[in-house]
This record gives sequence, structure tokens and C-alpha cells, in this order.
Amino acid sequence: MLSESPISARPRLHRETGGRAAKLYCSKFTKLLLYLSVVNGLLCGIPTNKAMTTTEQTPTKVIDHKPTNTGAAFGSEVSAHMLMGVYRDGQWQEQAIVPFGPLMLSPTNLALHYGQSIFEGMKAFRMKDGNISVFRIDKHHERLNKTLERMSMPQMPFSYFDQAIRELVAVDADYVPDLNEGSLYIRPFVFATGEGFRVRVSDTYQFVIFTGPVGDYYQKPVRVKVETEFIRAAEGGPGFAKCAGNYAAAFYPTQKANREGFDNLLWTDSRQHEFIEESGTMNAMFVIDEVLITPSLTGTILDGITRDSLIRLARDMGVKVQQRKISYKELIAGAEQGLLQEAFGVGTAAVVSPIELIQVHGQDYPLPPYSDNSLWFRLKQRLTQIRTGYEADMYGWNTVLDV
Ligand SMILES: Cc1ncc(COP(=O)(O)O)c(C=O)c1O
Repeated sequence: MLSESPISARPRLHRETGGRAAKLYCSKFTKLLLYLSVVNGLLCGIPTNKAMTTTEQTPTKVIDHKPTNTGAAFGSEVSAHMLMGVYRDGQWQEQAIVPFGPLMLSPTNLALHYGQSIFEGMKAFRMKDGNISVFRIDKHHERLNKTLERMSMPQMPFSYFDQAIRELVAVDADYVPDLNEGSLYIRPFVFATGEGFRVRVSDTYQFVIFTGPVGDYYQKPVRVKVETEFIRAAEGGPGFAKCAGNYAAAFYPTQKANREGFDNLLWTDSRQHEFIEESGTMNAMFVIDEVLITPSLTGTILDGITRDSLIRLARDMGVKVQQRKISYKELIAGAEQGLLQEAFGVGTAAVVSPIELIQVHGQDYPLPPYSDNSLWFRLKQRLTQIRTGYEADMYGWNTVLDV
């Protein structure tokens, strides 16, 4: 865990000090961390260069400038600050914004061994008038608390979460890409900081948020394979939760599909391996005979905020929407009869990503070509227009920041 010393009751530290001073502070802070890791390495009997290598291998690049384009690989660049908060003595304590940097963890950290580690994924957008909006903070907070509860972790008051997001995005305002040039991804996460190797629920936690400018997750329509051997989640499990373990368990089958040339899997249910669940980090949507169909929320898929938003927008546009079970057999029948018009994944990172091909049991089912009139395209356009202020925010989804 990052030592608690940089935490103070003054979360706007860097904003007040201004860009250049923040940079200076950042480099001093980094030097301090390096110094501490050297001392730590010596004290622990670890060769110094090893302790430092761990720091150097951080795969993300901390950038100290406004992005001029968002062509960097999604998730590879982060802004120079992060917000930290702690849970101890039965409550969420003070928050502070500090330079982005490594966390120091005990090897007996409970999150590393028993998996109490959860996250959220949100975005801030540059609006047409230059303001910054954050999308659906309340809904993300609601889901964060459901996840925390399922992982036996302490829930967080809305005000604590909301303030943290607002403060950090305000400090990182310069990192929000220009209008229609991308967005600022916001990654809040919480993990156990209790120590000891006995299996137990931690009684202390670290809350961290960092941000990073991002562009498109997928550059082109995706190819997916219907997975009928492995499962992502089963009834009664944590499939609805945004916990780290769900992602780790999905890696093996997903990597296998990647090697076979697919971008992602379409997971199926755990009992019959037949009903579509979701795809990677996206909820799945299909258009069959002019009806938008998406798997219902049965507790095994994530209650996607993009999914929820697009269902509302589609209904507003007069599109018939069904939330129900949909089997791959229905997709095949639809493809064979020429009724399967569209398939797409929806999520904060991927926004709306059209699917060009679905494979089931080795058989390819290509989707018809898409156009600007395709529903996925029109939905994406409306969502973008609301987020950027070109269309009225009818449902109060945007939190417009005072920066
Ligand atoms: C497993 C999974 N399903 C669906 C989604 C889409 O959810 P949202 O629209 O809230 O980003 C995500 C991304 O967060 C995800 O990780």
C-alpha cells in the first residue's frame, strides 16, 4: 500500500499549486519513492536493482501534457495524479490527490491472495461549450456498492465517491481530450489492505482513482466466437459484480479465442451453454427483424450502464426493445433467414462496437454490411451527442463540472 503519509485532508493539493509546481512535486515525490524502494530493498536483503526494476516495469506511461491525439493503445497512458482514500475503523476516511505512482504492498496483502479487489470504469467528456461532463456517476456508484457488498467489502457513501470523482477530474481537466477526440477514462478501484495469510475478510481497504485519456477501444468491427465449453459466470456467483476475479477467470478462454483470430468471446449460460450472456467487457445486443434484443439481467452478466442508456435511447427512437433470453440457435436461424440484421457490443470502454462475424461450433455467420443508418451507429451518435451537449440531457446523465 502506498504509505499513508502523502494523504492529507487537502484533496486539491495539485490544483492549487498549478501545473509546473505539480510537475516539480511529482518528480520530487518519484525520487522519494525510488529512495524508499532502495532503502526497502536493502532492508529486506533484496538486491537494490531488483527493487527498482519493479518500479521501472510499470507498463503504463504517465503523461504530463494534454493529449494531442488519442492514438495510443487503450489503457496505456495515465494522467499524472491519483486520488487515494482509506477505509479503517469502520469508516471511509480522508481522501487526497497525490502524484500517480507505485503502491507498496505487503506480500501478505489479503487482496493479492484472496481477491478482494473490485473496480469501476467511467468516462469524462469535453462538451461543445468547452465544459467537462462525467457520465452517470450515480449509476456507477450504485453498481460499485453492489459489487462491494458481494465481495464482503464496505460500501461507500455516494458523497464520498462523487466528491472523489469531481475532485480528481477537476485536477486532471487538462487531460480531457478535445471535443470528439476521445475521452478521459476514470478508473476507481478498491482493494483489501489487511495482512496475514489466514483466509479472512479484510477490515481495512484502499480506494484509488486514476484517469487516462483514451480513444477507440476497437478500431474496426469485431469477430466473436460463441463459447460453449468454458463459462464466465453461473447463477448465484459474482457474474454481476465488477470484481477482479471475473476478469482473470475469463482470460484463459479469451486468449484461446484470440489465438484463433477472434477479438472476443460471446459467453453462454452455465447450464445449457446455449443462451448468450455478454462479450468480454461489453454487453451484447442484436437486431433481429427490426427488434433490438439484449440478454436480460439474470445476475450472471454485468448490469452495463451503456446497455441501460442505449435501451432508453432506442425506446425513445421508437425501436422495439426486448430484454430476454436469446440462444445462439436463434442467432443462427436469424442469420439463415436473413433476419439477423445487426450484432454489437456496448460498454464504457468500447462504447458501441459492431460485430462483423459470429462463429458457432466452427461455422461462420457474417453479419450484413453496416451503414450510417444501422441502429448501432445511430445509437452511438445519440449517446455521443448527449454526452457532448449537442442534445438535451433528458435523463440527467451528465455531471457538468465547474472547472
Ligand atoms: C464484463 C463486462 N460486461 C459489460 C460491461 C459494460 O458495462 P458498462 O456499460 O457499464 O461499461 C463491462 C464494462 O464495464 C464489463 O467489464
